[in-house]
Amino acid sequence: MLTEKYLNIIKDRREGLRRDLAPLFPGPAARDFTWEVGCGHGHYLTDYAAAHPGELCVGIDLLADRIVRANRKRDRARAANLHFLQAEARLFLSELPAAARIGRLLLLFPDPWPKARHHKHRILQADFLSAVAGRAAPGCRFYFRTDFAPYLEEGRTALAGHPRWEVVDEPFPFERETVFQARAPTFGSCVARLRDGGH
Ligand SMILES: C[S@@+](CC[C@H](N)C(=O)[O-])C[C@H]1O[C@@H](n2cnc3c(N)ncnc32)[C@H](O)[C@@H]1O
Repeated sequence: MLTEKYLNIIKDRREGLRRDLAPLFPGPAARDFTWEVGCGHGHYLTDYAAAHPGELCVGIDLLADRIVRANRKRDRARAANLHFLQAEARLFLSELPAAARIGRLLLLFPDPWPKARHHKHRILQADFLSAVAGRAAPGCRFYFRTDFAPYLEEGRTALAGHPRWEVVDEPFPFERETVFQARAPTFGSCVARLRDGGH
């Protein structure tokens, strides 16, 4: 049973997210953004944002200390188009302002949860893909990269089998080694495109 304390924490997080997101999406006009889920210390998105100054970039991570370090990088880079927020991915999606549309989603080296009984904790699952599709801009791209081969195959299968996504043979929009990538002996990538008729 959910305790009152837990419910109050979630309520506070929702309110905090609404407060943080409102200035990024002012007014009713649709605004596309590039979203990195599980951005860690923000290495990838900081360099991505510098290379794409016209794109609004938002990185989120569950862990506060990672967001503190990511924000230091953002400040050093003076990247006005870049924002890092402490948030859980599904909660973030549910609090997005109406004008916000996901143009690109980056999921780089997500926690693999290798044990079968923990697969339910993986972020790349059909319900998450549906939730992203519901807030995606036409032509949205989903970029997935992992060093855990079974997750790569299962993620590819989930994307290929989802009615709103199709796997495409495209390169990543930008290359920059992440912290977990640097530790990985090998890794693989999968790119998917939102099917027409989205949003
Ligand atoms: C294995 S690390 C990878 C970090 C970074 N992308 C990299 O490649 O170095 C996975 C990150 O995802 C974050 N994370 C896990 N589940 C999340 C969720 N549901 N929402 C937001 N962040 C999440 C973790 O806190 C962690 O920082």
